Amino acid sequence: MNTTVNVEEIASQLKGRDFLGLMDYEPDEIRYLLDLAIELKKKQKAGEVYQPLKGKTLGMIFEKSSTRTRVSFEVGMYQLGGHALFLSRNDIQMGRGETIRDTAMTMSRYLDGIIIRTFGHRNVVELARGATIPVINALSDQSHPCQALADYQTILEKKGRLEGLKIAYIGDGNNMVHSLMMGASKLGLHFASASPEGYEPDKEIVQSARENASETGCRIDIVRDPREAMENADIVYTDVWASMGFEEEQKERERAFKNYQVNEELVKSAKQDYLFLHCLPAHRGEEVTEGVIDGPHSVIFDEAENRLHAQKAIMAALM
Ligand code: CP
Ligand code: NVA
Repeated sequence: MNTTVNVEEIASQLKGRDFLGLMDYEPDEIRYLLDLAIELKKKQKAGEVYQPLKGKTLGMIFEKSSTRTRVSFEVGMYQLGGHALFLSRNDIQMGRGETIRDTAMTMSRYLDGIIIRTFGHRNVVELARGATIPVINALSDQSHPCQALADYQTILEKKGRLEGLKIAYIGDGNNMVHSLMMGASKLGLHFASASPEGYEPDKEIVQSARENASETGCRIDIVRDPREAMENADIVYTDVWASMGFEEEQKERERAFKNYQVNEELVKSAKQDYLFLHCLPAHRGEEVTEGVIDGPHSVIFDEAENRLHAQKAIMAALM
């Protein structure tokens, strides 16, 4: 971290905050969380007990399936000395129509933090508005900031730097590309994404990322041709063609995305020492070939592991 930055000041300004998206965070604050994630990972590996959240409880509202997010938040909370409660939407009154605001107000009387995985991003915003405790976005249709933070931690660990690197994202203009692009624009990485017509990233998010990029000196390119996006990439990223909630479009999307597979031929345009990342779950043979995702450039399980460390950093800093 830049030594001129007052770390204590950043730590104090993060306390009690929500984590709804990287757009709400200053570059220094994101760097602080990344450094904290790396530090917490070291402590964990050294067997050092670090429990700043002793006696605290995290509520975890899930409207969609999850392997990584659920397990890493629950384990992370345990390692930090706290307790996590899994709250499937169907098992709480929200699933029967209780308002998000009433849910938020009630939960704020018991809990110290809430994570929510939901469809509409407005649900995340509404929960945060109604709650008096930190709310963390554990994936919405718009964004997946916890994943992006873990991704930047992985890149930083593997490449030793972030600024000036190039990320190529190939595929659906979904929640994942939005959070990655936002993170790149704040952290000074060049970002190029290639999607078929009709599946481009959200224009407002692109616009906002470009505004950040003009300050950090990086480029945000939205192109059609996957080879063009891939050119000289340090990081190659893709995600499923049909995200959760879009399953009925699977066939139609397979047709639309057929030229957007990350395969051995396409990655030839990337740098020789490129890293392959994928948020997982993956569909081998669709968005990526086995050769690439299980090949020597892939860091997908380090990336998955870093969900734990990155989210511990978020919880420790906010709660
Ligand atoms: N990457 C990710 O969020 O995985 P899960 O859906 O398994 O939580
Ligand atoms: N874009 C994917 C990410 C899963 C972690 C989805 O929303 O289903």
